[in-house]
Amino acid sequence: MRRLCVIGAGYVGLVTGACFADLGNWVTCIDIDKAKVKSLSKGVIPFYEPGLAELVKRNLRSQRLSFTNLYSEGVPDADFVFIGVNTPSGTEGEADMTDMSAAVESIADCLTKYAIIVNKSTVPIGTGDWVANQVQRKNDKAAFDVVSNPEFLREGRAVTDFMNPDRIVLGCTKRAAAEQVAALYATFQCPIIITDLRTAEMIKYASNAFLATRISFINEMAAICDELGADVEEVARGMGLDKRIGRAFLDAGIGYGGSCFPKDVSALAHMASIHGCHPQLLRAVMEINRDQRHVVVQRLRGVLGSLDGLTIGILGLSFKPDTDDMRNAPSVEIIHLLKNEGAQVKAYDPAAMERARKLIKGIQLCPDAYAVAEGSDALVVATEWNEFKQLDMARVKSLMRQPILIDGRNIYDPAEMRGMGFVYYGVGRGIPRILNGQAR
Ligand SMILES: NC(=O)c1ccc[n+]([C@@H]2O[C@H](COP(=O)([O-])OP(=O)(O)OC[C@H]3O[C@@H](n4cnc5c(N)ncnc54)[C@H](O)[C@@H]3O)[C@@H](O)[C@H]2O)c1
Repeated sequence: MRRLCVIGAGYVGLVTGACFADLGNWVTCIDIDKAKVKSLSKGVIPFYEPGLAELVKRNLRSQRLSFTNLYSEGVPDADFVFIGVNTPSGTEGEADMTDMSAAVESIADCLTKYAIIVNKSTVPIGTGDWVANQVQRKNDKAAFDVVSNPEFLREGRAVTDFMNPDRIVLGCTKRAAAEQVAALYATFQCPIIITDLRTAEMIKYASNAFLATRISFINEMAAICDELGADVEEVARGMGLDKRIGRAFLDAGIGYGGSCFPKDVSALAHMASIHGCHPQLLRAVMEINRDQRHVVVQRLRGVLGSLDGLTIGILGLSFKPDTDDMRNAPSVEIIHLLKNEGAQVKAYDPAAMERARKLIKGIQLCPDAYAVAEGSDALVVATEWNEFKQLDMARVKSLMRQPILIDGRNIYDPAEMRGMGFVYYGVGRGIPRILNGQAR
């Protein structure tokens, strides 16, 4: 049984801490947010993540997991110090290392015996070397190694992903240190790649950039399908059955969002640029993604003319289902664009209402999807929550002022929706022709 300390109790840090505690280690999670530490110490999770609350409560009870604001209560005894603080986008698109830098300084101050500093945050290539230098500079007596261990979990299934990884990536300068980290994951029976620090850091960026590229690729195909009368869902199915291609991340829609893809693609492009590379593909990926947000407003304008004074209902606010995370959620920008057009906006999300209330002002938040439909001139599906797939669409239509449905996540069958009398627009599923005010 090893002693672990995890810096940052957010999506990555908390899942890492709770899962390692569940695997039998002693874990102290350190976060500078005092309110978060207080609530976590009582087993209350400040965000929505399926299965995490049970895991945290169970490990609090067994006393293998604890939370504190004080580095001095976790770092000195730790064999491993994991870092999971955020690295958001800076003003130029670069990764903002403010939190990372503060965390590293605080770790350095508290190292009293040999420990392995394991970085799980997504950080610019070269950060592992920088961490080693920073710690050495701050505390020249410190005995430590640095290992890069990028995290690949997805919000909404973070616990399952952590406990069932496809691979573990470890970057190091000393193989023995990486092997000690590998031993923590020994139970997982998955491939473990041990490489150098920079390559490990790059694997994370390249993985996220590739997934984002697939999304932008299929969105470009969707735009072509719309114009040429093909159905992108069938195209994705037909492509995805090819084993060389696969179906994952070929979902056309209003684009990727969240706390990772937007900032990571942008940070990689920024890094490439300042090192003299021309990241043309990454730039195109970001541009296509930005354009997808505008597709919704263009469709609405196309069918309704001016949106001034009209009521538009939004189904789903989180950046994807099964999370309440609204960082870079497409819904936020779409709502902003709609308000700029003079539209009144109503919205509902199964998990993100509390966050939306703090984040978006001047919209009406409704208790359910039917309340959103009531009196709306159009409905926009912004997040593909299962709940929206099960709606009584006849009831939805009867509540709306005009039956216009913009399915930004392609969750409905176009023929069925048009058969019910909706003016239905998916993404890449054909554009209904408007003749004399009637959709055909
Ligand atoms: N969220 C994801 O799905 C995901 C997946 C893989 C990798 N990542 C990467 O992991 C990192 C963390 O992401 P996240 O979504 O968990 O972030 P988050 O914002 O949810 O959590 C970060 C936590 O760190 C705390 N913190 C900030 N500065 C601190 C300091 N100096 N000392 C102690 N605590 C501090 C914050 O209070 C916060 O609770 C990022 O680099 C991200 O790119 C995220």
